[in-house]
Amino acid sequence: MDHARLSRSQRKPLFQQVYDHIWNRIQRAEWTEHNKLPSVRMLAEELNVNRLTVFKAYQQLKEEKKIYVKYKSGYYVHPGTQMPFKDLDVPIVSSYVQKSHLSEIHQVPATYQFSHALIDPNLMPNRYFSEYVKEIFDLYPTVLSTYSTIQGDEELRESLALYFADKHRFHLTHDDILITSGSQQAIDLIARMLIEPADTVLLERPTYSAAIDIFQQHGARIVSVDIHPYGYDLNQVEQLMKQHKPRFFYLNPTFHNPTGYIVPAEQRKQLVELAEQYRCFLIEDDPFRDIYFEQEPPLPLFSYSTEGYVIYIRSFSKYVAPGLRIAAVCSHSSLRKHLFTVKSLADNGTPLLNQKMFLHYFKSKRLQQHILKLQTALSVRKSIMESELSRTNWTWDSPAGGLNLWVELPKTIVMEMLLVKCLEQSISFVPGPICDPSKQLTSWIRLSYSYINEKQLSIGMKKLIHLAEQLDS
Ligand SMILES: Cc1ncc(COP(=O)(O)O)c(C=O)c1O
Repeated sequence: MDHARLSRSQRKPLFQQVYDHIWNRIQRAEWTEHNKLPSVRMLAEELNVNRLTVFKAYQQLKEEKKIYVKYKSGYYVHPGTQMPFKDLDVPIVSSYVQKSHLSEIHQVPATYQFSHALIDPNLMPNRYFSEYVKEIFDLYPTVLSTYSTIQGDEELRESLALYFADKHRFHLTHDDILITSGSQQAIDLIARMLIEPADTVLLERPTYSAAIDIFQQHGARIVSVDIHPYGYDLNQVEQLMKQHKPRFFYLNPTFHNPTGYIVPAEQRKQLVELAEQYRCFLIEDDPFRDIYFEQEPPLPLFSYSTEGYVIYIRSFSKYVAPGLRIAAVCSHSSLRKHLFTVKSLADNGTPLLNQKMFLHYFKSKRLQQHILKLQTALSVRKSIMESELSRTNWTWDSPAGGLNLWVELPKTIVMEMLLVKCLEQSISFVPGPICDPSKQLTSWIRLSYSYINEKQLSIGMKKLIHLAEQLDS
């Protein structure tokens, strides 16, 4: 049994941990619909907690209609509460439409893959990496026989520090950088480090959907900030900071996922000032910066930071190698020590081989050549998608970089129906509500133009539009 997982030192209240524990077991189908749950006494003994704690968890599950009570008999699992995908007889489409997390959507195979905000593997530098493996072992024969330092390989951090200083005017040394296993891990580590029970965090609406899941899982209360083609309404941001005293504002201001919007330079400086005034950290997630089609985007918010209120996350997954899982976190303040602690608890350091492989590529001239080629290839794919969409009355703002179009469907098309029909034809996209902390934005979809080749893209878009026309009432 699992009671070791309940921790009195954890920041989550004990009854909430018991609640999660029961709910997990229901989700894993250990108890299925109409099954009787253990009595309060039994579960309290099993988990080594007070009966009142179990009672409180049961009461909350009951209020949320996940379980029900039979008079003088006990608690039972409510029907229809379990995840749908363990039943193989359920058609994939019906389970797909109930999926509410990006990772679940990505598991659905599709020929016309518009849901992946990843670059076509055929455009990635695979050949160079296969050459590098041998070279790395020649250079560092013990690379697999040791851990990386928790903070990350020093040679890599030195290279990154020089690059950030030169390119983005960051004032930092390699000691200010932590290497993480992708930016998703960085987001999770920062959430672990900063979020206390009942803390409020600000998130753009729409936003990167995994960030919503992570912050919610850490118990944060989420308040949304609207993002527009011109950036934010800074009065709204200030009002929210004043009213809610948020712990941090997580943002993706450069070729924002999913909209592609860019927060203009003048707002960046003001945002940092607001953050300092209201003592609200800004978590700047910046994975798409180099995927621009016309001009380089404005400097990161971190470049304006003097008082340590900006934490900068730079992933290299998108255009170097998602499989290497390399991202850098830059922070100035005393937070750094805590960040290293959570990283050490998570995995004792990102694999050294991956860091050395990345470093090799990062220092070579090939990276810049690769980025230039990618910018052209992706701009062509974006034009193809937009040219197909131009036959419709759907609306979107053409992004100047990034991997996605954020498209509003006319009200006459029911997005969920379109999703079902598309899936039947092996076409996938990301439904808007997944990117919305309040699960609205039901007329919006995210279409990624980066993952499939030009020909497939054109065929897939024609099919998608045709299906939508059939549904349009
Ligand atoms: C805004 C944003 N942040 C983070 C990530 C995760 O990237 P990584 O592969 O570095 O974990 C993604 C991936 O799509 C993203 O869009």
